[in-house]
Amino acid sequence: MLSKADVHVHTRYSGLGQFGALKFPESICRPEDVVEIARKIGLRVLCITDHDSVKGGLLAREYSKRYDDIEVVVGSEIKTNDGEVIGLFIEEDVPRGTSAKEAIANIRDQGGLVVAPHPFSMHVPALGPLVDELDIDALETLNGGHLDGYANEAARKHAESGKWAVVAGSDAHALGQLGCSHTTFPGETAEDFRKAILNKTTAVQGMISTLEMGVKWSIQVVLQADKLMLKSFFGILEGDDPDDPLIKKINSMRGDRKLAALISSFFFLTPPMPFITSVTGLKIMKFMNNPKRAAAYHTCNNDQ
Ligand SMILES: [Fe+2]
Repeated sequence: MLSKADVHVHTRYSGLGQFGALKFPESICRPEDVVEIARKIGLRVLCITDHDSVKGGLLAREYSKRYDDIEVVVGSEIKTNDGEVIGLFIEEDVPRGTSAKEAIANIRDQGGLVVAPHPFSMHVPALGPLVDELDIDALETLNGGHLDGYANEAARKHAESGKWAVVAGSDAHALGQLGCSHTTFPGETAEDFRKAILNKTTAVQGMISTLEMGVKWSIQVVLQADKLMLKSFFGILEGDDPDDPLIKKINSMRGDRKLAALISSFFFLTPPMPFITSVTGLKIMKFMNNPKRAAAYHTCNNDQ
């Protein structure tokens, strides 16, 4: 039988992202909620790949032990100086800011598998043609967050050589995006999934996120951040995990900054602002991910 795995999922342990001067939580999803939704949509294997941290994966795996119809693979999406690299089946954090080669050596030391996420993306850090030189098990040829039409197609074509297993991940930063694109593999367990990657018997399935999912994600992020900020005003955030980067950030903010953030979030939530920002984000993504820019970028990099 064939089962489904999502190889690329974020939780709130992915920390804060930045777009220009704007800082925002990468995800507001709690690991336990991600496990619950993953079961509902029929994923047998859920890979948690937070930015530079295995904490969300460890918590999700612990939570998933109460069920026998899903397994969590602990992973991390590591920001290296050469682009992002995903390590799966690891137990410890892999430091960011090293070369991709060093990060991969660390993943191998932990007995993990190496995936090149969105390898030809032009709007998030990606390895590009470097994948040919590195010790990589699988290319993510379908990434649910790439609505541009270029990056996934370039990865799919590159993987036609048969050198790597092909995998798909939703790159979900919100519960509604989970599993939209996913990997199929023979078997049912995490060990079957590992073997399928090594034997290159995986396949990709599904679709990319929709604009509607993007709008919902931005609204959910703002509403949840507002809820936590209001709780912190009343001093009732203490019960939440103190290691949670979102809680840490909110607890460290001055009262006037929290108030300013609440007021600006009110403007953001006023229709049609969430829609306008999502459409603008998509236009920027499409502008950045195009064959001409990619050709110029790769020529320039190869000349160095
Ligand atoms: Fe990601």
